[in-house]
Amino acid sequence: MTPAQAQLVEQIRGSFGPKTAVTDPEAIAPWLTDWRGRFHGSAPAMLAPATTAEVAAIVRLAGDAGVPLVPQGGNTSMVGGATPPADGSALLLTTRRMNRIRALSPESNLAVAEAGVILADLRAAAEREGRRFPLDLGARGSATIGGLVSTNAGGTQVLRFGTMRSLVAGVEAVLPDGSVHEGLAPLKKDNRGYDLNQLLIGAEGTLGIVTAATLRLVPGMVSRAVAWAGLESPARALALLRSIEARTDAVESFEIVPDATLALVLGHVPGLRAPLETRHPWHVLIEAVATDPGAEPPTALLERLLGTAIEEELAGDAVIAASEAQAESFWRIRHSISEAERAAGPALQHDISVPVDDMPRFMVEGGAAAEARFPGTHAVAYGHLGDGNVHFHVRAPAGADPARWYVEQGPAITRFVHDMVVAAGGSISAEHGIGQMKRAELERLGPVARLSALRAIKGALDPRGILNPGKLVALAPGGRTP
Ligand code: FAD
Ligand code: MLT
Ligand code: ZN
Repeated sequence: MTPAQAQLVEQIRGSFGPKTAVTDPEAIAPWLTDWRGRFHGSAPAMLAPATTAEVAAIVRLAGDAGVPLVPQGGNTSMVGGATPPADGSALLLTTRRMNRIRALSPESNLAVAEAGVILADLRAAAEREGRRFPLDLGARGSATIGGLVSTNAGGTQVLRFGTMRSLVAGVEAVLPDGSVHEGLAPLKKDNRGYDLNQLLIGAEGTLGIVTAATLRLVPGMVSRAVAWAGLESPARALALLRSIEARTDAVESFEIVPDATLALVLGHVPGLRAPLETRHPWHVLIEAVATDPGAEPPTALLERLLGTAIEEELAGDAVIAASEAQAESFWRIRHSISEAERAAGPALQHDISVPVDDMPRFMVEGGAAAEARFPGTHAVAYGHLGDGNVHFHVRAPAGADPARWYVEQGPAITRFVHDMVVAAGGSISAEHGIGQMKRAELERLGPVARLSALRAIKGALDPRGILNPGKLVALAPGGRTP
């Protein structure tokens, strides 16, 4: 620990008690590596404030001491966003003690949750009041509101409800100078210039520490139907989605899974079974929800729509879960993909988007092009087809040494994939953010106007580089380079 860090820790302990600064290396160790195990950091202390006032005081003191802070929620970032630098120059700041749901109103359909509230807990609290917080993802048991806001997370319900950005009605955050942005009021109209709430959403902890958010709730479910369909190609899957969308707005999720990925999950998670007895090259998971007791029951709706799709040869076969337990098992297949992929060995992950109509072509041609250019690799693409966002993974050739393969092949493969994405008018980060994993690629691919605006904003709000150094964007010349 440097003398400045040691003095900061003492000041924080003196003001807020011993719980507010953890220095036991064993207690800190689990929080120094990202979920995928690709990034390893170091931090001599982990700060754990319990209130917004404590966060503000800590940020002010850290700024004065020139000690950077890395905000961390559930540490489920897919881009090393919450992993501190390896040189031990920064301290971790965890929000886990800020885990109160301050308010939840079914009348106004709003909840105010502190940054450390875990997504699953907020969803359960909303359900108890007959409402839903609709954002959902595989990391729901660990990911926090602060992390979800700061990454503008997506997930499997974006089709109907949008990303976190459309679910946030207000933000409270501590800015890099220690001032508190009090933006929790759910104002429908507010034209006082630049929207700070929107700026903080997706800022990856580089512009402020989110301490709480006001979140929109949607009507509770009366019933749902979860279907699994087998089909020939991503093009047919998109045609199926379009045909469904033309007839109903009850579909909330539409996720695509290649057959090899289904097989991988079934091999990895004991007790799961393939939903269909017949084999198909591609699969889609569809969820339809009724929130009005007078609406057509979702099971009848999906039976009718999938029946038509099979007649029109968009789908080869389909099954609708016969029970809630079966519906959950279909979803378990989908949400276990990341874990099965992680266990399958070295792979380069690309969280990419292109215009929805172009995604089927991209998945097929892009996958073939990557495999041809890098012999022995295996490309798989799965995920949020309806959002034009798939997770495009390139797996290492069998027997490759992981460490060597990442170093020797990784950058070229990632550049190849991202160049195809840019050529298709897409984004190299659809929902996971930039973190430290994609920073070089963001620098390489720009575009220039976007990059210089990002740098200028970072330089204006955090000229000393106190918040989350080494993530998202480097400071403009004249500012401190992380
Ligand atoms: P962390 O990982 O702790 O942090 C993420 C980023 O936010 C970091 O830059 C961190 O510094 C910053 N941060 C955290 N808290 C704060 C705060 N209070 N104030 C300011 N900055 C903060 N993501 C999707 O979008 N869609 C998915 O479908 C999806 N599925 C996933 C499935 C699995 C199994 C896993 C492991 C991850 C998945 N993710 C997905 C990624 C991840 O869950 C999200 O990015 C999530 O928003 C991160 O939340 P967290 O609390 O874990 O944040
Ligand atoms: C998902 O959709 O499952 C996630 O975003 C995580 C992943 O990249 O696998
Ligand atoms: Zn995803």
